[in-house]
Amino acid sequence: MKEFVANQIYINEIPLRFLGMQLGTRMTVIRMKNSALFLHSPTKLTPNIKKRLDELGKVSIIVCPNKLHHLYVNSYVDNYPNAKIYAAPGLEKKRKDIQFNGTLSDESNEAWSEEIDQMVFRGCFFMKEVFFFHKETKTLIITDFIQSIHSYHNLFERIMGRVGGVYDNPSPPRDLRLMMCLDRQTVRQSVKRVKQWKFDKIIIAHGQLITQDAQFVFNKAFDWI
Ligand SMILES: [Fe+2]
Repeated sequence: MKEFVANQIYINEIPLRFLGMQLGTRMTVIRMKNSALFLHSPTKLTPNIKKRLDELGKVSIIVCPNKLHHLYVNSYVDNYPNAKIYAAPGLEKKRKDIQFNGTLSDESNEAWSEEIDQMVFRGCFFMKEVFFFHKETKTLIITDFIQSIHSYHNLFERIMGRVGGVYDNPSPPRDLRLMMCLDRQTVRQSVKRVKQWKFDKIIIAHGQLITQDAQFVFNKAFDWI
């Protein structure tokens, strides 16, 4: 696990294959002022990760921001029985094996609302995702709606990255864009709302972290809509 913003945001990156591609995935850990830890899109709880988390604070909140980012939640349940787990809209139906404490909405839960804002990104036919904004560090935290493939990926992945329109171009992959075309008006409203947050960095789950010109990158990612 590495530090993204000192004392406040940490990330953990693990390999993850999807459709034959090594896309990797990334967990974001926000250390709140009371040392409670807010885990976004958790990666598998290994002894090393557990040790590191326990050094940082108390695992209190776990959020699964969309219906694809929930794979490793079960590994936390036994170790952190008091942690509260929240699901993206639609995930509770899919993961009936998990006892969620609630469904994420446009309103931040009071346990984190002072430090973290959130909204449901709507308009994609396939899925909704809950976007988060850490106020103090001006960090936008999302998973699948911006992705990127880079020169360090293998040939197949680079080709697929070009087909998907995300090679060295952080943006929604073409399949998600197509599913957003059915309801452009709603997508535009969601994009507008994200832009109200004055973020200067974006954490995504698949691809390079965006730490420069974040607003420009975000605008470019959604200019087609
Ligand atoms: Fe993903």
